Amino acid sequence: MKALILAGGMGTRLRPLTFSTPKPLLPLLGRPMVMHIIDSLPGEVDTVVLAVSYMKDQLEDFFRKNDCGRRVVLVNEDEPLGTGGAIRNVRQHLDDTFFCFNGDIISSLDLSDLLSFHKRHGGIGTLSLWQVPDPSAFGVVGLDRDRIIDFQEKPVPGRAISDLINAGVYVFQPELLDHIPPGVVSLERQVFPKILDKGMHGYRFQGYWVDCGTPESYLRAQSELLEHGRSLNNAFVQGSKVIGLNYLDRANLKGCVVGPHVCALPGSSVADGSVVERSVLMEGATVGKDCTVKDCLLGPGAKVDDGKSVQGKVLAYFQ
Ligand code: GDD
Ligand code: MG
Repeated sequence: MKALILAGGMGTRLRPLTFSTPKPLLPLLGRPMVMHIIDSLPGEVDTVVLAVSYMKDQLEDFFRKNDCGRRVVLVNEDEPLGTGGAIRNVRQHLDDTFFCFNGDIISSLDLSDLLSFHKRHGGIGTLSLWQVPDPSAFGVVGLDRDRIIDFQEKPVPGRAISDLINAGVYVFQPELLDHIPPGVVSLERQVFPKILDKGMHGYRFQGYWVDCGTPESYLRAQSELLEHGRSLNNAFVQGSKVIGLNYLDRANLKGCVVGPHVCALPGSSVADGSVVERSVLMEGATVGKDCTVKDCLLGPGAKVDDGKSVQGKVLAYFQ
């Protein structure tokens, strides 16, 4: 069975990090986002097709160097074709029921259960669904029992037809391809509303779900993974206090207070008198002396100078 991962978006909401790294390769607890998806695939998936465009060379390079235990095929779009166009562009690889993923989703979804739900219900596709208080930033479905009867992409706040959103993980039949026109096509805006009569079902699940597309949600995804048992501490902790659940991988922490929900990757460091909470320090990121860093994403080599307080910032090396 094949799994298609849509991995060609520009990740604009995570700039400046995505100026140097494509979103699917940004690390969550030290592992690229896309690998969290690949790790969760059921055993019957033997081939992963990645629809790539933005920074495809980095993705190619990553999969050349890292074995993920499955055949990986990258298919490039010279110009991004949108989520629908990207699926059409890989059609030569899709000859049977397939999984399809937005490449920025972290969740507790049971994919084997999603697949058996799809097979039980039949129809052209099954969308995983997640309940949120404000659905306006997502695709929203109208459901009649398990059947999707309406779809709105990013409705105006207050106009959503329900609080159930498209969680960005699907099972499709290859017949979907007959309904995607050539060119730049949005799966959500141009295709879903037109194929509801072909049998589209909604699969609700519990646990956790995060679209890691914004700095705030990236940190939320990290918190979920930590709360669900992925913490680590092998940092060099010299006179530092570590609070709560964190992922501290060979970071240098000296005379500081770190945690909860901090990820500090190899070569990152925090100096005397500083406090770091709910943040990411990628490889080689440094926090100087007497700093406060809260809710921040520090890219590889990014630096917070002595005495600075930063909150809710995304910092890259070149800033
Ligand atoms: N190959 C390719 N080409 N991939 C693309 C393109 C493209 O032109 N455009 C977007 N993608 C990929 C992105 O890399 C991402 O993995 C996925 O498609 C979804 O794009 P986002 O830009 O993250 O969309 P979104 O978060 O605003 O909305 C989507 O996800 C929500 C759930 O997280 C929609 O599917 C919503 O309906 C859904 O609720
Ligand atoms: Mg997204």
